[in-house]
Amino acid sequence: MRVLGIETSCDETGVALYEAGRGIRAERLASQVAIHSAYGGVVPELASRDHIAKLLPLVLDVLREAELELDDLDAIAYTAGPGLIGALLVGGSLAASLAYGLKIPAIPVHHLEGHLLACMLEEPHPEFPFLALLVSGGHSQLIEVAGVGRYRIIGETLDDAAGEAFDKVARLLGLPYPGGPQLAALAEQGDGDRYELPRPLRGQGLDMSFSGLKTAMRLAIDSCRAADGSLADRARADLAASFEKAVVETLTGKCRQALEATGLARLVIAGGVGANRALRASLAELGRSVGARVYYPKPALCTDNGAMIAYAGWCRRLGPQTKLPRFMAKPRWPLDELEPPDFRT
Ligand code: KG4
Ligand code: ZN
Repeated sequence: MRVLGIETSCDETGVALYEAGRGIRAERLASQVAIHSAYGGVVPELASRDHIAKLLPLVLDVLREAELELDDLDAIAYTAGPGLIGALLVGGSLAASLAYGLKIPAIPVHHLEGHLLACMLEEPHPEFPFLALLVSGGHSQLIEVAGVGRYRIIGETLDDAAGEAFDKVARLLGLPYPGGPQLAALAEQGDGDRYELPRPLRGQGLDMSFSGLKTAMRLAIDSCRAADGSLADRARADLAASFEKAVVETLTGKCRQALEATGLARLVIAGGVGANRALRASLAELGRSVGARVYYPKPALCTDNGAMIAYAGWCRRLGPQTKLPRFMAKPRWPLDELEPPDFRT
């Protein structure tokens, strides 16, 4: 069975082909960084337009690389939400119309389910059940994953997502969009102990909060500015490192608590912030100290991509999601509304 996966929920156009038994046979990703950077963030209308321009050529590229024709596809999976409505409509309408023409199923996929299952594309991959730390630009959640579609959110951010905090603080530091990876690169040159920052909600349950940390950063940054408002390079790097350390320690502490609370012995890192090297190192260390096995997909599978959508679509090929309308776009779609696939149907 071959499933084409299409991801257009935000500012990356991702396409990949998953084949059962063989894995990902070809994939393409087009980033819109250059388009949005002038505005300091994603401009939804520009995102939709660029998806329109890029998507079909990427689909054809992927098929060419896999040496397949459209007729060789068995299903087309696409991100149906959550995400930017215009961007979702682009991927969904191409997927649904191609599937209609080819008389094959179009499978609406939940973007976060894609992130959660991305680890399954790597070897070794975890067995169910596992604990997932899902940290992206829009979400920060701790999820008990019992199987495909069997998700229990046991902790989440009360305000900003971790990636959003990275992006906002990067902007305060004058770094170009997209801020998260830039801030992480700067942090590698800095001293994370230089500035004292809060560890929000430490020891207080599994929920998280990052907006107070962002405010503390704004105050710390302002206190370092010269009379003309400029920031010395050393201070900028140390501020970035101190911020990253606060986020990493906070997330690591929450994972430790969640592993204890659930008794799970496998921890999976998912979502764009999962590409952060300091976080990966810290969670690996946590795993060693508590005897849990930690799985983190390669950075390209943590950030948005078509492969995770193709794979999640394959997992859903016969499940209740195939009973969803062929074409749907759901900008808001809570993960725990999903049901497991029922392969008897
Ligand atoms: O999962 P993702 O690609 O898109 C969403 O579904 O949101 O996550 C994007 C987020 C952005 O906030 C970005 O700044 C952050 O992940 N991010 C990082 C790193 N790479 C991406 N944050 C910290 N360190 C990184 N290396
Ligand atoms: Zn994402």
